[in-house]
Amino acid sequence: MPTALASDDRYGFDNSTSDARDQVGHLADYLDPHTFAVLESLRLPVAGRYADIGAGAGTIAQWMAEHGGRNGSTLVIDLQPQHVPPHPRIEILNQDIATVALQPASFDAIHARLLFMHLLQREQILTNLVDALKPGGKLIISDWATDHLDDMFIDGPDTVRQVFGTFQHTLIKVLDGHGMDSTWARRVPAVMRSAGLSIHSGQTYNRVLRGGDPGMLLHASNSRQKEKELLEAGMTPPQLTLLRQAMTNPDVLTRSWPMHTTIGVRPAA
Ligand SMILES: C[S@@+](CC[C@H](N)C(=O)[O-])C[C@H]1O[C@@H](n2cnc3c(N)ncnc32)[C@H](O)[C@@H]1O
Repeated sequence: MPTALASDDRYGFDNSTSDARDQVGHLADYLDPHTFAVLESLRLPVAGRYADIGAGAGTIAQWMAEHGGRNGSTLVIDLQPQHVPPHPRIEILNQDIATVALQPASFDAIHARLLFMHLLQREQILTNLVDALKPGGKLIISDWATDHLDDMFIDGPDTVRQVFGTFQHTLIKVLDGHGMDSTWARRVPAVMRSAGLSIHSGQTYNRVLRGGDPGMLLHASNSRQKEKELLEAGMTPPQLTLLRQAMTNPDVLTRSWPMHTTIGVRPAA
C-alpha cells in the first residue's frame, strides 16, 4: 500500500504565469526527440496503462496515448495541468503526486521528466510509484543535474559569459531554496534499486546549444518566470536584459544541464 504523505507542492515554477506556456513548450521542443527515442526503444506494450507525472505541455502523455491505441489508457497527474491538451484516452488528475494513492500493480509504464528533482519527498514518492507498477512495468525518470554550472558556457562575448554564469548560479540557488536537489539525477539508479526495481538502462542527454535553440530560449523564459526572486537574490535588470538578448544570439554557444534518464523495471512477482 502507498505510504500517506504530506503535500509536496513547493515547486519553484508556476504554470499559471504568462511565461509558463513558453517554458513547457521549450522543454518539449528541446527534450521530446530524446524522450521519444527512449520510449520507442522500450517497446512498451500496446493497449497498456501508462502514467505521466508532472506532464507540463502534455506531449509525453500524448505519445503514450497514441502508443497505447484504442484499448490503452494514460493518466496525467500534475499540480497545474492546464497546458495538457484534451485527448480522448488521457485522464487528467489535477493533484499533488504526494497525495495521490495509485492502485497497486496497475501500470505498464510510469514516466516523470523534470519532476522528482523538485519534490521534497522524492524517495518515498518513488517507492509509491514502484508499488503502482505491474510486474515487468517500467519507471522512467529523467532529471537535470545542475551542479556543474561553470562547465556550461562554451563561446561568446565575455560580458555574456559572465552574465550567463551569474544567472545560472542565482537561478539554481533560488530553486534549491524551493527544495530542488541538484544532484538527485545521478542518485536515481541507486534509489530505484533500494525501492526494489532492477535497472533496465540509463543514459545522459546533453547538447551544444546556440542562441535561438529551444534549450536557450528556456533560460530566457525561466529568467522571466523567476524575475522577482532573481532580482531579490542580487541580479540586476540590465543583467537580465543582456541574458535574454544573448539567448537569441546564434553566436552564443552553451551546453545544457545534462539530463540523466534512468529506467527501472519491477521484477516479475
Ligand atoms: C519542469 S516541469 C516539467 C514538465 C514536463 N515533464 C517536461 O519535462 O517537459 C514540472 C511539472 O511538474 C508539475 N509538478 C511539480 N510539482 C508537482 C507535484 N508535487 N505533483 C504533481 N505535479 C507536480 C508542474 O506543475 C510541472 O507541470
